[in-house]
Amino acid sequence: MKVVHTIHHLQEAVSDFKKQHLTVGFVPTMGALHQGHISLTQRAKAENNVVVVSIFINPMQFNNADDFKKYPVTTESDLAMLSEAGCHLVFLPSADEVYTAHEAPLVFDLEMLDKVMEGEFRPGHFQGVITVVNKFFNWIKPDKAYFGEKDFQQLAVIRKMSTALHPDMEIIGCPTLREKNGLAMSSRNRRLSEQERKDASVIYESISLLTELKSSLDVSAAKNQVINSIQSVQPFKVEYLDIVNADTLISLSQWTESSPMRACIAVWCNEVRLIDNVPV
Ligand code: PAF
Repeated sequence: MKVVHTIHHLQEAVSDFKKQHLTVGFVPTMGALHQGHISLTQRAKAENNVVVVSIFINPMQFNNADDFKKYPVTTESDLAMLSEAGCHLVFLPSADEVYTAHEAPLVFDLEMLDKVMEGEFRPGHFQGVITVVNKFFNWIKPDKAYFGEKDFQQLAVIRKMSTALHPDMEIIGCPTLREKNGLAMSSRNRRLSEQERKDASVIYESISLLTELKSSLDVSAAKNQVINSIQSVQPFKVEYLDIVNADTLISLSQWTESSPMRACIAVWCNEVRLIDNVPV
């Protein structure tokens, strides 16, 4: 496995792959890798000749300076995991390599997709995400790029940007990996205490009940029941729980059979913000 730190070396390595007519699968990450990232890497490996993974904690997508500062950095173990998973090339740039001084976010209209849910509570977050992902796509020009469904709204946003700006590239959404107790795997889980990590099972347990609750309660009552059940465990506080049309992310006030529905949630556990989602 080769590790490069500059755009120049990245493009040199990728152009070598392309000269050999090898297909390229790309997995963008912010490091602090867990089994979820490894499953994306393995899928990329199964579906392409070579796999490129980026590790870059993107400052532009953090609306909260503290969250950025506390984002876990575990480069040594990340590289060991990627090598073990059969990754071919890792791009590990500095912020100065990715951005020019005072660089503005990419101007791209995400319509409603970045206004709701995460977009409402993390202003500018998705513009920061598409700015960096668009740069990586331009530099690497992968055949396929892999994203976890845990960040369901991010996946929708990236599909929208990519359809317009990278129409030949395929975006692959991959199922959320969960801990044994149901907690969605996330780099942020490392910031939970052992007890909090155990108790956080209440999030997935509660949102999974929506599929049953929809036969007896309306949307608003079902949401209240889920929120109450999560908040009955200290110190969890629900920031939002939304039932949305899975394609448009438009919030639904009534159950519908005519399009797929998704329940999306953000929950604070003290200083740590956890997100999750399930089909309903
Ligand atoms: O999902 C993430 O880890 C990040 O948002 C991504 C896609 C790597 C962009 O920085």
